[in-house]
Amino acid sequence: METTELYPHIFTRKSTRAFDMTPLSAETLDRIETFIKGVKPLLPGSEITHKIAGPGEVKGIGIAKAPHYFLISGKEQQLKDACAGFLYQYAELYLHAGGLSARWLAGAKGKQPDPDWIIGIAFGKPAEEPCTRTLAEFKRKSLGEISRGEDPRIEAARLAPSGMNGQPWYYIADHGALHTYYKKSLGGLAGGLYHLTELDAGIALCHIAVASEHEGIPVGFSADKKDAPEPPKGFTYIGTVE
Ligand SMILES: Cc1cc2nc3c(=O)[nH]c(=O)nc-3n(C[C@H](O)[C@H](O)[C@H](O)COP(=O)(O)O)c2cc1C
Repeated sequence: METTELYPHIFTRKSTRAFDMTPLSAETLDRIETFIKGVKPLLPGSEITHKIAGPGEVKGIGIAKAPHYFLISGKEQQLKDACAGFLYQYAELYLHAGGLSARWLAGAKGKQPDPDWIIGIAFGKPAEEPCTRTLAEFKRKSLGEISRGEDPRIEAARLAPSGMNGQPWYYIADHGALHTYYKKSLGGLAGGLYHLTELDAGIALCHIAVASEHEGIPVGFSADKKDAPEPPKGFTYIGTVE
């Protein structure tokens, strides 16, 4: 499957906790692996990897029970978490496109310690069909709350999943460029314990990249554009899509 075929799934996907525990076939898992290897990363040279683990190899409080998990890891590198969010959101959309489903899980880690562990994703066949929804069923901030200026790709970012549905992102559209910002903390008691807002921003950047392909806009990402507008209050600049 081409990444261009992922676009419609941005508008229908939803996370599930209810998985059919029947393992996927080796052939399906191979196809998923091949797809992930073919994704162009957010930053050239970014090195984010995963292991596919079974339910007996994974631990974490309150994690969804699933036949498979991606255990995602990467050594310290520029925008490590954003690169992980970007790459594996492609995988998430690919799973949905194939009639499968997934859930990002902040606490899902391997029983085997991994110092480079970032996050896990449960995936498999959904137990309850269908694992899709209509646009009206998405619980998301409005475009006005998360952006300034107009660009059709912001709608794709708006619908992206995020931890605690925090949607910690902001976009400034500027003559074809999309400047991207994120909140380092969600605030509040629970939000203070959540440390993956940069990863969330990477997930939304995947949706922007997929929407760019759909619009036929060649997409590049620059993490240090000198003339990006000042961040809105409470936000940090992450990079510019141009
Ligand atoms: C980075 C990240 C971490 C998440 N961690 C958890 C988690 O630990 N437990 C959980 O039940 N859901 C988790 N989720 C799922 C979100 O709660 C969910 O994506 C969000 O509420 C939006 O719903 P949707 O994915 O159906 O659009 C996580 C999502 C993301 C993107």
